[in-house]
Amino acid sequence: MVDIIERKRNGEVLSKEEITFFVTGYTKGTIPDYQASAFLMAIYFSGMNAEEQGYLTMAMVESGDQIDLSAIEGIKVDKHSTGGVGDTTTLILAPLVAACGVPVAKMSGRGLGHTGGTLDKLESIEGFHIEISEEQFVSQVNHLKLAVIGQSGNLTPADKKLYALRDVTATVESISLIASSIMSKKIAAGADAIVLDVKTGEGAFMKTLEDAEKLAAAMVAIGKQVGRQTMAVISDMSQPLGYAIGNALEVKEAIDTLQGNGPDDLTELCLVLGSKMIMAGGKAATTEEAKSMLEAVIENGSALKLFGEMIASQGGNREIVHNPDLLPKAAYQMEVPSPASGYVTKMEADEIGVAAMLLGAGRATKEDEIDLAVGIVLNKKIGDRVEKGEPLAMIHSNRTDVASSLELLQKHIHIGSEKVDKPTLIYKTIIN
Ligand code: URA
Ligand code: CA
Repeated sequence: MVDIIERKRNGEVLSKEEITFFVTGYTKGTIPDYQASAFLMAIYFSGMNAEEQGYLTMAMVESGDQIDLSAIEGIKVDKHSTGGVGDTTTLILAPLVAACGVPVAKMSGRGLGHTGGTLDKLESIEGFHIEISEEQFVSQVNHLKLAVIGQSGNLTPADKKLYALRDVTATVESISLIASSIMSKKIAAGADAIVLDVKTGEGAFMKTLEDAEKLAAAMVAIGKQVGRQTMAVISDMSQPLGYAIGNALEVKEAIDTLQGNGPDDLTELCLVLGSKMIMAGGKAATTEEAKSMLEAVIENGSALKLFGEMIASQGGNREIVHNPDLLPKAAYQMEVPSPASGYVTKMEADEIGVAAMLLGAGRATKEDEIDLAVGIVLNKKIGDRVEKGEPLAMIHSNRTDVASSLELLQKHIHIGSEKVDKPTLIYKTIIN
């Protein structure tokens, strides 16, 4: 191990055997934390090339169980978002794409900090089970073309252990390590093809477009290296996506969007990502064709119907897709008055995510309980006109004291005298 650390420290390229030796040894516990820490720091400074990243990814995939989706007919396309605020896309995309005939066997995660998670959102549907057996998962996807569940089995234990170590050794922010970490989880979950939504801006992990591009390119290169078709879309997270931030509130927004009445940005992003998924799944040859298929399943109600069927199949009440009032509701709704007249010039998505977290919509630590009913519904987005005292947003809370969230919202939704343009929603697409 000392030789491997030294070679990476000196900027040399490691072999598959060396990288696998490290991942296997660290997972088993034969390589201690202090050597792993030094190695991670060497990677942080020296980086890895696409081949090394591919080896690291596959070594992490092979460190644990892999979901076998071979019993599902067709190309299994997974989607991953690097995380954002009010990012409701999975709840919309999964039924949309499945309604177009591409099987969606999706494992999703929970929210942490200012970002939300699909599993929490789904749990705001009463009775909905996110834990089903692998057999049921496969059978539901064969039957409905759609299932969204929590991670089962012991997937990528090497990534779990390494991520925890990176967290305390200041080595999280390495593009090579992030890219391998994300890709290993998608591959272990059984994806044949992967569509990545790499977010950039205030609310994202990658704050600059330059870093987002590097991460996207690294993940696409790994996909190519390990033989999985991979595409990345770089999308905006300078302001929250859509209007709703909070679990049940976002489920309602997803239903609105599946009915064709969703916010413009959320709808557009779903059409862009959905088109990529349909093309990756081999069901359309061009973006235009894919987009019209998606628009058709919104128009004819089949995507919404399928969402209802998935809910019923996983134990929830399918009626919510026609009557979102059945979702949990917060006891109080309070306005967030604009402190000035003018135009919204900036909305710091991360701080708005924190305002929702403080209401109970998210977790500060993994162990925190969340309140599924609460959150924020924005009335304004960047570029909109607002008058002093007019609500910028509504707070949905089960507590009467919302001062800290109110203050964060008033501080981080910036009002200026000059109108600014809406931010670009889609910056770039990278395909392998
Ligand atoms: N998300 C991941 O899954 N892994 C990382 O390393 C960083 C963000
Ligand atoms: Ca939203």
